[in-house]
Amino acid sequence: MKILIFETAAQAAERAAHQIIDKVQARPDCVLGLATGGTMPPVYRHMAQAKAQGAVSYALVTTFNLDEYVGLAPDHPCSYHHFMAQELFDATDFSPTRTHLPYGNTADPAAEATRYDALIQSQGPIDLQLLGIGANGHIGFNEPTSSFGSRTRIKTLTKATRLANQRFFQDGEAPPNYAITVGIETILESREVVLLATGIAKARSVADMVEGPLSAICPASALQLHPATTIILDQDAASLLKLKEYYFQVHPNGQEAPIV
Ligand code: GLP
Repeated sequence: MKILIFETAAQAAERAAHQIIDKVQARPDCVLGLATGGTMPPVYRHMAQAKAQGAVSYALVTTFNLDEYVGLAPDHPCSYHHFMAQELFDATDFSPTRTHLPYGNTADPAAEATRYDALIQSQGPIDLQLLGIGANGHIGFNEPTSSFGSRTRIKTLTKATRLANQRFFQDGEAPPNYAITVGIETILESREVVLLATGIAKARSVADMVEGPLSAICPASALQLHPATTIILDQDAASLLKLKEYYFQVHPNGQEAPIV
């Protein structure tokens, strides 16, 4: 794992965005795995800015989002379809025919999960998978005890996750109990992974992911098995890492240091 620690959340988000933009510049028809959650809008703003400045085009990029709530239609304001349109797709030139999310409002969500995994397999592998992390160590909606061999499927959300995501729902509406999420094995098949975590609420799960045992109780620890993962943190999210000074020595201020 490459661990990059930045002074601020804004710097961390900018670094994550640049890794994505660099990938698209190098391979305009690459396949990106995209994420939702409160950590991501600053990343997507940088991506939109790069497009507005003419530095990059996303027109040929294929995207697969990690997850969607079961029961929410794409036009529901709290759906991840809606989040992605609002935070990224509508502000850029991503092609609607190349951007994919699972549909949460189908009669047979299990069949939809299987269809979605097969679509990723047929168009993948994902070149770069962007991830956030839950305070309980989830990636996508792979909640604690998710199998490292899991594929896209329905997961029951924990009370903690539903509570954490309540802030995105208004008017007394509660987050759904179920979601369709890409599996951990599906994530591990990506060529490259970038996980962004900011804020003190993520400090425990970040430490468990990076330095804890490989364990299904912290699904993100599966990334220890992935050979090309970059973990991008701000000081708060990095605050419980035992080897924090070492990571900072290897990558001072999150930069590549020359080997001399
Ligand atoms: C959500 C999403 C995850 C995201 C995580 C953290 O539930 N399914 O993909 O990484 O929780 O979200 P936030 O960035 O809001 O803390």
